[in-house]
Amino acid sequence: MKQRVFSGARPTGRQHIGNYLGAIQNYVNLQEEYDCIYCIVDVHALTSLEETDRLQENIHEMMLDWLAAGLDPQKSILFVQSHVPEVMELHTLLSMVTPLGWLLRVPTFKEKARMQPQNVNYGLVGYPVLMTADIVLYKGEIVPVGEDQLPHLELAREIARRFNSIFGPTFPEPQSKLTSFPLVVGLNGTQKMGKTYDNYIELAATPEETLKLVMTAVTDPARRYRSDPGHPEVCNVFSLHHFFNPDRVDGIADECRSAGIGCVDCKQLLAQGINSELAALRERRAALAARPQYVTEVLSDGACRAQAIARDTLAEVKEKMGLVRRSV
Ligand code: TYM
Repeated sequence: MKQRVFSGARPTGRQHIGNYLGAIQNYVNLQEEYDCIYCIVDVHALTSLEETDRLQENIHEMMLDWLAAGLDPQKSILFVQSHVPEVMELHTLLSMVTPLGWLLRVPTFKEKARMQPQNVNYGLVGYPVLMTADIVLYKGEIVPVGEDQLPHLELAREIARRFNSIFGPTFPEPQSKLTSFPLVVGLNGTQKMGKTYDNYIELAATPEETLKLVMTAVTDPARRYRSDPGHPEVCNVFSLHHFFNPDRVDGIADECRSAGIGCVDCKQLLAQGINSELAALRERRAALAARPQYVTEVLSDGACRAQAIARDTLAEVKEKMGLVRRSV
């Protein structure tokens, strides 16, 4: 039997190249060998209540990116978290085996609490429990994610382990799977690329928008004049050449070090690389965007297929926890 892959992403709208390099690439590749389930986690998005009026639009935009990137509803289950409400029930049940101390230690909780001090809600503390419920409801074994999600995955394993030790073997301990680009730094060169920091390039950006954004990127701070030799090893723009200009990366490094090219030339090359790598994806996306009904159909079919699995797991969990009479 094929191993089960599960992953999810918050519906923040159009996906950026951080999501693409850190996660979506693996989602697509794993489809060939594994039994894959990918979920748009709309309930998780409610932990910061900024974009609820755009939630439906964001789900749609995100699905367009996923489909255009190569997620195939014939091979994978694609669905929206709240369409399979069993996850909420499992979240509550798992919360009973999760010590509060584990949750208060999670670095992303501390960061969110710092970023939105006016809204440190209960859902924010329970975020990793809901994420664990997402994965174990489908008995996910492999979880493709970017590096920022590793603390959540560590906790998911601990919760699964604890449940299994109390109630008997039930859940696999989910293992994370990283790409070769697990942490894409944003255009400002400091934080990870993400919507929160406004330092991202959307996959669906036009070639002109891409060039304009790349031109704002921070490069090697020691290189102040065109004639200064550069240090590609510390430059975020250079690191992206590894993916978007793999055949030219050594030449670009040499030319940067010898000041043969300046940062503007280097950024132009990067924008060209991004635009040519993403040209086909952008074309497919435009075609899909003309068929909004298709996205709705994919998600509704995905929810049906996901729910059939979810019901079985929840029945097993309720029985093990003594909520229903044990079958003999
Ligand atoms: P989210 O929506 O923040 O991100 C979706 C995926 O993209 C990866 N990613 C990145 N990778 C590399 N560099 C970056 N700059 C970058 N930005 C984002 C993320 O690591 C992630 O894999 N908590 C999750 C959603 C979630 C989930 C789950 C994931 C909920 N339930 C169950 C896996 C399994 C999140 O907020 O991802």
